[in-house]
Amino acid sequence: MLLHKSLALLASLAATTTNALYFHLTDFRASDVRIPSESHALAFTISNPDAVFEQGGNNPANCTISWTTTPPTCWTPCATTDSGWGYYALLTSYSGAYNFTLQIQEYFAYRNSVLNNVSIPVVEGSGEWDCSRGGQSTQCNFRNAESSYDTGFETYYGVQKAGPICVV
Ligand SMILES: *[C@@H]1O[C@H](CO)[C@@H](O)[C@H](O)[C@H]1NC(C)=O
Ligand SMILES: *[C@@H]1O[C@H](CO)[C@@H](O)[C@H](O)[C@H]1NC(C)=O
Ligand SMILES: *[C@@H]1O[C@H](CO)[C@@H](O)[C@H](O)[C@H]1NC(C)=O
Repeated sequence: MLLHKSLALLASLAATTTNALYFHLTDFRASDVRIPSESHALAFTISNPDAVFEQGGNNPANCTISWTTTPPTCWTPCATTDSGWGYYALLTSYSGAYNFTLQIQEYFAYRNSVLNNVSIPVVEGSGEWDCSRGGQSTQCNFRNAESSYDTGFETYYGVQKAGPICVV
């Protein structure tokens, strides 16, 4: 009975664990440009600083999501080409550079497929997110030297990454 219970516990730990690893985002900025014409962009550099090789490694990458009127509904790969592995970013809500929700997934395989997943609410006036408004644009970033932000994530094993993936 005791053995049965601990096996069940192990199985549930294998399916989903919240681990102590974290994503480190730097140079995080967002802009809404109105003049000369409407355009939007969100950019950051991401890494997984404490991850060893078996956990996908530190793996730094630059992410940029840009659009004219409506944010992409596909996942943007954080690299100039999509290798099938790495970080992907999706805006799941966007009121403006001052208020949006960013979902990030990191996908790779080591013996099993691994999906690290987090949803980050970014709102002016909560935390360090800070915006400056000019006649032509609104520009936002984190109010610290590197405009950096750290976040934990959840890890899933043996699941595929979400799609569709944007063609870059
Ligand atoms: C990210 O962009 C910066 C600035 O252009 C560049 O120095 C850096 O090498 C890039 N990093 C990666 C992992 O591509
Ligand atoms: C941010 O946007 C969300 C979703 O659109 C909305 O529910 C929320 O009230 C907004 N928060 C602020 C502070 O504007
Ligand atoms: C990743 O997180 C999002 C937002 O919390 C959630 O909707 C989604 O189901 C998660 N992905 C997996 C594979 O559970």
